[in-house]
Amino acid sequence: MRPELRDSLTPGSEAAALAEAIDFARLPRHVAIIMDGNGRWAQRRRLPRVQGHRAGIASVRDVVESSARLGLQVLTLYAFSIENWKRPRLEVETLMRLLREYLRRELRTLLDNDIRFQVIGRIRELSAPVQRELEAGMEATAGCKGLLFNIALSYGGRAEIVDACDRLVREALARGTAPALDEATFAGYLYTAGQPDPDLLIRTSGEMRLSNFLLWQVAYAEMWMTDTLWPDFRHVELFRAILDYQKRERRYGGLAPGGDGATGPRRVQSL
Ligand code: FPP
Repeated sequence: MRPELRDSLTPGSEAAALAEAIDFARLPRHVAIIMDGNGRWAQRRRLPRVQGHRAGIASVRDVVESSARLGLQVLTLYAFSIENWKRPRLEVETLMRLLREYLRRELRTLLDNDIRFQVIGRIRELSAPVQRELEAGMEATAGCKGLLFNIALSYGGRAEIVDACDRLVREALARGTAPALDEATFAGYLYTAGQPDPDLLIRTSGEMRLSNFLLWQVAYAEMWMTDTLWPDFRHVELFRAILDYQKRERRYGGLAPGGDGATGPRRVQSL
């Protein structure tokens, strides 16, 4: 376990015990999270929905910092989908304000923890001040070598694939030749170019949908769902998800090791 993780945990706590059980040689390289349930968290407390988003920031902070301490390569948080533009104006404005506040307050912590911050999504659809703030955050952390923290903003998985095709076609037209296309070449046109695909996809609040998130990249991700609402999600649950992930056998459509199909019991029956 990395010393920075050990130092951050209270000895004897549940989190410390869970962290001890993690196999650090088999960490998921990329964890992606659909943060859901902010509205319900607020409703249950008879608070306006936006208070749920505000409370969700503490979970963002906790999960980003623990991911860095764990030694994950990439963390992607789904903060605002293309479909979220349909929400009431006040809610959209509050989310954007919270995002700017988060960046301003946390930039020092991101730098101290060597975290590189990046936005994936249709950044051009965000307002100019938000874009400026995001660009400044990306620029300031560009040299960081630890965790890559992607925030998905104005993001849609289908839109990402369309944007990739659009760029590919334009470049081909400009060059007068189309690239020989295979999966790796195509992935190089996605917002996540050069990053490992998510190994583990977490969704909070008990919903069982992908909601247009990283459609290409999660092809073989292990999914882990919890009823916990996002504002109540903390590193203890992240550790549980990782431990559960480490119990799973990843076969990528093939056979389990030693399962040559002849012996029966280890033969893979499904994809
Ligand atoms: C889903 O809950 C959550 C969102 C649409 C936004 C998540 C945003 C944050 C936690 C704050 C900003 C993020 C960063 C990275 C600083 P919901 O409103 O759909 O909840 P409901 O399903 O209970 O209504």
